[in-house]
Amino acid sequence: MLSQLPYIDHPDLLSQEIPFADAAIYRLNDSEALVQSVDFFTPVVDDPYKYGQIAAANALSDLFAVGARPLTALNLVSFPVDCLESDILVKILQGGAERVHAAGGVVAGGHSIEDDEPKYGLCVTGIVDPGKMITTCGCSPGDQLYLTKPLGTGLLTTALKGEILTETDISTAIEGMIVLNKVAAEVMVAVGVSACTDITGFGLIGHASELAEASRVGIKIFMKDLPAYPQALEMAEMGLVPAGSHRNRDFYFSRLDGHENCDPLLLDLLSDAQTSGGLLIAVAKERAEILEQKLTERAVPVCRVGEVVAGSSGRLLLEV
Ligand code: CO
Repeated sequence: MLSQLPYIDHPDLLSQEIPFADAAIYRLNDSEALVQSVDFFTPVVDDPYKYGQIAAANALSDLFAVGARPLTALNLVSFPVDCLESDILVKILQGGAERVHAAGGVVAGGHSIEDDEPKYGLCVTGIVDPGKMITTCGCSPGDQLYLTKPLGTGLLTTALKGEILTETDISTAIEGMIVLNKVAAEVMVAVGVSACTDITGFGLIGHASELAEASRVGIKIFMKDLPAYPQALEMAEMGLVPAGSHRNRDFYFSRLDGHENCDPLLLDLLSDAQTSGGLLIAVAKERAEILEQKLTERAVPVCRVGEVVAGSSGRLLLEV
């Protein structure tokens, strides 16, 4: 669809040179570029404050993935004023503002419309040194791949919607979605890494494929080591795979090697559409241990999920 839109070309629009860039990156001068991103969605949890927090953490994630520092955020609100109490909207906005503040930014305004179904998200702006920003294109063979949050939020929020699980049952995943990728980004910038992207709707399968394609390498995924939130695999076993995850699997299936030997439940986890997922970081082998150690020291639940291999550009090699 995007290919049918007018061609975007501007010498300062740095993101146009980065394949699969999620954020718009616009050079202001030699040492500063603006980074902008926007996301919004219908509630993933019933608690309005937590929903606001998750939406904000999710929107801010694209800034952290390139190593940017958040500055401002604008609220985007759709709300059924006639059938829901305004108190609920206040809590959503309070949750969003709390996360933006924790990220080091400020909510500077926003816009709301009336709608049958509530939707909330933010347009976020940050700043990065264009010489130091982290992109999707820097992976080299031998790089180790780390993921900074477990997988399974698509499976678990689907189970929540279907009333198979309660918010208490999935509290670990809810807390995980609320966590900002800020600390992970700070550590990655300090250690020096090859490439990064954040895991959201396309799941690990899609975002790892993009990283592989952008860097013209293959990525080996250690299927047995994929981290999952509690009960996510049980939900996959019950067949509670959300539509978005099915779409991911169908769309990226032709990029997979070795899937025929994989546990189908782990394939569900690989394809699972994430809300406010972690960072997927590629780091040179000699710095992998220090990255892992620094992330662990700062309580980031880091997990080595794969490594970059030569050739097989854009393919995912699944190792059972
Ligand atoms: Co992203």
